[in-house]
Amino acid sequence: MAALIFTFFSLSFLSICSLAEVKNYGFTVDLIHRDSLLSPLHNFSASYFDSINTALHRSKSRAFAFRALASGTHSTELIYSHGDFLMKLSIGTPPFEIIGLADTGSVLSWTQCAPCDNCYPQKQPLFAPKKSSTYKEVAGNSKLCKSLGGLSSILGDNKCKYALNYLDGSYSHGTIFSDTITLNPTSGTPISQKNFVFGCGYENLGNFNNEASGVIGLGGGPGSLITQMNSLINGKFSYCLVSNAYSNSKSSKMHFGSKAVVSGAGVVSTGLHIFKNLLYAVRFKGISVGNKRLAMYNSSKVLGFFNERIIIDSGTILTLLPKKYYQPLEAAMKKEMKLEVAGAHGVLRLCYKTGNGIKIEAPKVTVHFVGADLNLNNVNTFFRVADGVYCLGFVPHEGGPAILGNLAQVNFLVGYDLRKKKVFFKPTDCSKQ
Ligand SMILES: *[C@@H]1O[C@H](CO)[C@@H](O)[C@H](O)[C@H]1NC(C)=O
Ligand SMILES: *[C@@H]1O[C@H](CO)[C@@H](O)[C@H](O)[C@H]1NC(C)=O
Repeated sequence: MAALIFTFFSLSFLSICSLAEVKNYGFTVDLIHRDSLLSPLHNFSASYFDSINTALHRSKSRAFAFRALASGTHSTELIYSHGDFLMKLSIGTPPFEIIGLADTGSVLSWTQCAPCDNCYPQKQPLFAPKKSSTYKEVAGNSKLCKSLGGLSSILGDNKCKYALNYLDGSYSHGTIFSDTITLNPTSGTPISQKNFVFGCGYENLGNFNNEASGVIGLGGGPGSLITQMNSLINGKFSYCLVSNAYSNSKSSKMHFGSKAVVSGAGVVSTGLHIFKNLLYAVRFKGISVGNKRLAMYNSSKVLGFFNERIIIDSGTILTLLPKKYYQPLEAAMKKEMKLEVAGAHGVLRLCYKTGNGIKIEAPKVTVHFVGADLNLNNVNTFFRVADGVYCLGFVPHEGGPAILGNLAQVNFLVGYDLRKKKVFFKPTDCSKQ
């Protein structure tokens, strides 16, 4: 099936570009933090601390969803309808811009479509298939439809139907179609991809936000942006998340193709492991605080795929660790920190008072992967939850998988190579990207 899809997209690609150009093809787009000043979701009546607390709530729900997925108690492919980053792209001819939640945890990209039977309120106009001259329906009895998890319509009209059910009860139901998509890079000419398959949602309800018009899937499955643009970007993408995104008007960046190659001094890499075409994970060996490697107590807990692996997730602020990793970390941190303890803050367990306007100084934390050590800084481990109060952004995840959240990835260029099955990390000032 994978081979068939590859051929399908290769052919459409060859019609717009010559092979010689493919080799060095790369481009960059903005990755907008939902709470940044650039985001349509930015809440002007929320303080920085309100936004942090809302992000913690999202993180908690997302953790719950990951736990259900890892333990096999939930069988749907979908995780959670909230993430932290947005991306713009245009669909159709003439191009119609949508802003979608950029997330690895969705098998299919979709947008709300007009005319809509049952949509959540959306501020921007809905994509209207009838107005696009390149819109094509995917046949319900096609292999492509099946590979995307779609089903032939029961109405006998041979449409390819999809039904995405998110763990929090949100859902999107509709028709799978193909159309040209266009990305507007931060420099250079727009990038087009013909025959991109998308879901046209005619019934979408739940915890979606009225400023975003759908989801852009960035996972490893056939419906993801990465897979569908594979012949153009060679299975490579990377991102660089800016620090303090909540009060910033600087956007984070997402790079594709040759622009996504992570190289030079300081690069470390480890093997990429993909869970059900959705989640990206790496082998997790443990943690050091300062220069001391923490001993992990032996745990017999079996998490299947997630045993001794950590998910790399950009959709959640917190880093979640099974007890055997978390407990030694908290103990070592308590031993090293000389600041006055400030008590817990919601889900956050370890907080310190620094005094107003004083930034926290914490010991260096190193996360060890097979063949790669990630040396984290203060911006990756602690964040401010009130004036002069900082909390550790690592929390225990009882019975759930380890998840490396987006705070821990700030100021790293994180690169994925789906063909070579590798993940790269390079310390980078992401505000200079
Ligand atoms: C915006 O923030 C305020 C203050 O935290 C909150 O009460 C309100 O519900 C938020 N609005 C939205 C749309 O989230
Ligand atoms: C943990 O237990 C397993 C099985 O008893 C054993 O093989 C392994 O060496 C133990 N690991 C540590 C770090 O003690």
